[in-house]
Amino acid sequence: MVKPDRKLFGLIGHPLGHTYSPALHQFVLQRIEVEGCYHAFDTPAAELSAVIEGMRALGFAGFNVTVPHKQAVLKFLDERDPMVEEVGAVNTVRFRDGRLLGYNTDVVGFARALEQAGVEARGKVALVLGAGGAARAVVVALIRAGVARMVLHNRTVSRAEELAEHARTKLNFAAVEVSTTVADLPFPEFDLVINATSVGMCPHTQARPLEFREAMLRTTVMDLVYNPIETAFLHEARAAGARTLDGLDMFIFQGLEALRLWLDREVDVPPSDVRKFLIQRLRCHEPDSISHRG
Ligand code: ATR
Repeated sequence: MVKPDRKLFGLIGHPLGHTYSPALHQFVLQRIEVEGCYHAFDTPAAELSAVIEGMRALGFAGFNVTVPHKQAVLKFLDERDPMVEEVGAVNTVRFRDGRLLGYNTDVVGFARALEQAGVEARGKVALVLGAGGAARAVVVALIRAGVARMVLHNRTVSRAEELAEHARTKLNFAAVEVSTTVADLPFPEFDLVINATSVGMCPHTQARPLEFREAMLRTTVMDLVYNPIETAFLHEARAAGARTLDGLDMFIFQGLEALRLWLDREVDVPPSDVRKFLIQRLRCHEPDSISHRG
C-alpha cells in the first residue's frame, strides 16, 4: 500500500455532476489544520471495484458514496456499522489497515439538522417524499426520534412500499403507510413534511414534489435539496404559513460526521462557519448541469 504524504478522501458516484462535498471537506480540513485532499471521482458501475481497489492501494483514508452506488458498495465492506443495516445503504467508507468499514452519516446529519432547528419529532406525524437513499436515512432518523406515524409517497410506488415494509419488518415500526396519490393527503394533519426526492434541485428549480393547497400553519417543511437554498417547494410552504428548513445543514452535519470517522477525532468547526462558506459558493446557472446532494 502506498503511504501518501497527506490524507486522501474521495467521493464516488455516477454521473457526478456539480457537488459541494469537495468544497465542504477542503474548508473543514484547512480549518482543523489537517493536510488532506478530497476529490470527486465520477465512477461508472463497471469501474466500481477497480476504483475502490485503487483507493485502497493508494492509501486513502476513506470515501463518500452517492447515487447510484449507495447499495452496490455494501458487498465490498468488511464491516458494517449497525446504522448501515438499518438504512440499507452506505454513504461513508473508512479504510482501516486495508479493511473497508461502512457507515451511514445521513441519519446523524438529518437528526442534527432537526435538533439544531429545535424541531421535536417525538409523537409527531410525518410525510416523507421519496424512497431513495436519502429518504431511507430520513425514515430511520424519524423512527429513532420517536415519530408517531409516517406516510410515504414516491413517484415509483413499489420503492415506497419496499421502504415501508423495511420499516415494519427491520425497524419494528408498524405505523407507516404508503400514499399513492398526494391529491387526498390530509396536509394540515402533518407536523413534518420532508422532501427527500431530488425534485427542485438545480437546474430544475421550478419543479416541486407536490403543491400545497391549504394553510400549513402548524407544519415544519424541510427540503433536503440545498441548491437553491430556498427551493420552489420551500417558497410555497413558507407562503402557506409553514416553518421551513433548507437542506444545507443536513449536508454539513453528514460531512462533519464522515470526517470525524475518517480522522478518528472530534472535528471542532462550527457548522455555522461551514454554512456561511458554502452559501457563498452555491451556483445555479448551467441549464444542462446535473447537481448532487452528495
Ligand atoms: P438519493 O440517494 O439522493 O435519495 P436516489 O436514491 O436516486 O437519490 O433517489 C432519488 C429520489 O428522488 C427517488 O425517490 C426518486 O423517485 P423514484 O424512486 O421514482 O425514482 C425521486 N425523484 C427523482 N426525480 C424525480 C422526479 N422527476 N419526479 C419525482 N420523483 C423524482
